[in-house]
Amino acid sequence: MMRRLIVGNWKMHKTVAQTAAFVDAFLEELLTLPDGIDLAIAPPFTALTIAGERLRGSGVGLAAQNMHWEPSGAFTGEIAAAMLAELGVTAVILGHSERRHLFGESDDAVNKKVHAALANGLTPIVCVGETLEERDAGNADARVGAQTRAALAGVQTRDLTKVVLAYEPVWAIGTGRNCGVDQADATMGAIRSSVAGLETVRILYGGSVKVENVASYAHAPNVNGALVGGASLDPAGFAALIRAADSQGTKA
Ligand code: PGA
Repeated sequence: MMRRLIVGNWKMHKTVAQTAAFVDAFLEELLTLPDGIDLAIAPPFTALTIAGERLRGSGVGLAAQNMHWEPSGAFTGEIAAAMLAELGVTAVILGHSERRHLFGESDDAVNKKVHAALANGLTPIVCVGETLEERDAGNADARVGAQTRAALAGVQTRDLTKVVLAYEPVWAIGTGRNCGVDQADATMGAIRSSVAGLETVRILYGGSVKVENVASYAHAPNVNGALVGGASLDPAGFAALIRAADSQGTKA
């Protein structure tokens, strides 16, 4: 039985003060953490320290949204894995479609980051997803399969269990248009079979996940949780979303 995972991806939202207020309100809303669901939030780099301090002992994990693969060096504006680990970060989102499409991040860069994260004890949360054009052309499965294989190239089978994957159709992110459960499950099945050894790897669905639709994904066989953007920014709303996911019980 795989534990589900729900991660809040805050993107470029919230200052230090706003983060402190969020965490205090969120933990108050969510006095008991759900059984069978792991939780994490991914604030911007500048708010990781305060988030880590406020989350300490809560059982809610701390994730970063990106990192560089080198341990140090002349990489202006970049952050290394060890710098994140020092702040109590235990996971890092890699290859988010906004990084790939807005900042030109390549499959090769994502692969190097996956290796660096694993080497530093961070859980890589590797995002893959097709564009609307690729979906309409019937290439969605091929696209996400290729992204998954590229991201995980050279990762030892024993390390695959430390990886989390996230399927985020680009056309469903921030658009309010979520991917239907059956369609998501089928594409996530294609991701799972694209690399040997992914049977027990958690795959999250992301793209306009909301309190109203989160539970519908709970029983899809290939869906092991959610990567939530906009709906993770309000503490009461995010807590309600988590409760809605939990109300479906733990999936066998
Ligand atoms: P969204 O973002 O929930 O706002 O669509 C999801 C994501 O990009 O991780």
